[in-house]
Amino acid sequence: MSKKVLIVYGTRYGATESTSQEINKVLSESGLDTTVINAGKERVKDISVYDMAIVGSGMQMGKWTGAAEDFLKKYKKELSQKKTAIFVSSAAEALMKYDKNNEELEKINKQYLEDKATNYGLNPISKVIFGGVWDFNKMSFIFRKTMSPFKIKIKEAGFKEVSPGRYDTRDWEVIRNWAKDIASKV
Ligand SMILES: Cc1cc2nc3c(=O)[nH]c(=O)nc-3n(C[C@H](O)[C@H](O)[C@H](O)COP(=O)(O)O)c2cc1C
Repeated sequence: MSKKVLIVYGTRYGATESTSQEINKVLSESGLDTTVINAGKERVKDISVYDMAIVGSGMQMGKWTGAAEDFLKKYKKELSQKKTAIFVSSAAEALMKYDKNNEELEKINKQYLEDKATNYGLNPISKVIFGGVWDFNKMSFIFRKTMSPFKIKIKEAGFKEVSPGRYDTRDWEVIRNWAKDIASKV
């Protein structure tokens, strides 16, 4: 029987949703029985049937989404005894890499992933930061203003405008290769 994998994600702007769908595609193609849940829209009732849980969230102002965090909180005990992996969608990491700001990269790695695993008693087989999307159309007026200096930086770093006002820092090959590696470890 195929092993069961649960993918739970929290998203504000949609990037973590499409990243989760891509991970799901790779895992399914590898013969795994997968379930994908948007934690902001659906409640997970029981995780005992899954051999592994992958939990992902988009980042905003250094924070996971409340929905993904609620899932970690609710299933803290079960997750600590289960095979897990966590990931975040971060559009800021690409700019830090461009700036070769290793201090800041270490800081976000700790804040976004390591502290999260520690706080919820998880022992993930993998913790990873993927790219994200800067979508200036979807931002509130205040955020669009606050984030406008990043636009210059995004362009300077060479990220293409995939559609007007939308910049995608994801590397799909990195995401797919990560998912292939996970599939081999379930
Ligand atoms: C107001 C705002 C704040 C953000 N803050 C961060 C941040 O603190 N760290 C980061 O890596 N990315 C940050 N980003 C970029 C998001 O991580 C990126 O948009 C990501 O795709 C969000 O995931 P989601 O689309 O699934 O919600 C921010 C984006 C916005 C609009």
